[in-house]
Amino acid sequence: MRGRGGAGFLTGIKWKTVVEAKADQKYICCNADEGDSGTFADRMVMEGDPFMLIEGMMIAGIASGASKGFIYIRSEYPYAIATMKEAIAIATKAGWLGANIQHTDKSFTLEVRRGGGAYICGEETAMLESLEGRRGVVRAKPPIPALEGLFGKPTIINNVLSFAAVPFIMAKGAKAYQDFGMGRSRGTMPFQLGGNLNQGGIVEKAFGVTLRELVEGFGGGPYMGKPLRAVQVGGPLGAYLSADELEIKMDYETLAAKGAMLGHGGIVVFDASVDMAQQARFAMEFCAIESCGKCTPCRIGSVRGVEVIDKIVAGVEAQTNAALLEDLCTTMTDGSLCAMGGLTPMPVMSALTKFPQDFGLPKQKKLAAE
Ligand SMILES: Cc1cc2nc3c(=O)[nH]c(=O)nc-3n(C[C@H](O)[C@H](O)[C@H](O)COP(=O)(O)O)c2cc1C
Ligand code: SF4
Repeated sequence: MRGRGGAGFLTGIKWKTVVEAKADQKYICCNADEGDSGTFADRMVMEGDPFMLIEGMMIAGIASGASKGFIYIRSEYPYAIATMKEAIAIATKAGWLGANIQHTDKSFTLEVRRGGGAYICGEETAMLESLEGRRGVVRAKPPIPALEGLFGKPTIINNVLSFAAVPFIMAKGAKAYQDFGMGRSRGTMPFQLGGNLNQGGIVEKAFGVTLRELVEGFGGGPYMGKPLRAVQVGGPLGAYLSADELEIKMDYETLAAKGAMLGHGGIVVFDASVDMAQQARFAMEFCAIESCGKCTPCRIGSVRGVEVIDKIVAGVEAQTNAALLEDLCTTMTDGSLCAMGGLTPMPVMSALTKFPQDFGLPKQKKLAAE
């Protein structure tokens, strides 16, 4: 299983590291900050089937010897917070949480924590800081959270969807899970459709479904039949795909090979009225606002990025500034401490290279540096 929070890291390796770590206390943390634009699958799970998440976390706790777990839920999800709290109370009363689960020697308690209200609090180490009562600032790795996580103890951190997949795997077996998907992306993904679509919502499909099947088949194409211009896959740090890229298969490797990413499975559709230069500017501005401020490429780079895009759009030395933007994006990609600054160039550069005309640049972008 690949983690569903965004990075697609192998869950088994993470769990094994915590299982093998020697410590007097271990923790299970569920990342339910769900900050990506156009995503809501975590919320649907928590509000619709909270026991699936509780069961997955409890299995993680028993497997790794962690007796305590936290669910870090974004503050904008009051119903999910209330539902999870009530479900935890019900499960505890029924003897599925707490001391001596179902009269065994296993114990596992769960607590809900309200998120700090910033996008960066979804980054796992910033989430740990926030859980410990501090401002959500990214921690440098190593040490990895699996060895030194919450309160310095070995910690399994997974997304809601990752934990929620565990009961199925335990009940039906790994083979049944592996039968879904393609390549190294196994199982299913609840793709979340939004934006200028006829039909938004969640479609749970095996990895390998095409973007066209999702956007046109399930989403019914752009609202009011307008032509589709771009699709952003994978949240605010994901790349923009153009209308001629809809045949792409939705799995981690295929998207990565296209300079894109699957992320948390968010798909936002834009019709012909979109201005892609403004979307690129929005990505940089989002990074400037949400940056935790710990490292320079992200903190300063994103502010300079907005200024440079404004100059390109205003026609001020457009070619030179486009080359400068590309250079800045390389610095952010290579030099940022976490994926916030490291991935912001993805939407920016995909917009610039695929839709140069929106920046006032010639269709075949030719940068001054070339
Ligand atoms: C800026 C930023 C925001 C993130 N937001 C979330 C989030 O809201 N929810 C989430 O599960 N993972 C988020 N992540 C990914 C986490 O750092 C981490 O990889 C994930 O929670 C691990 O769980 P998984 O292995 O089940 O995917 C974010 C990462 C970054 C860099
Ligand atoms: S990349 Fe941005 S969000 Fe991440 S550590 Fe650096 S300043 Fe903080």
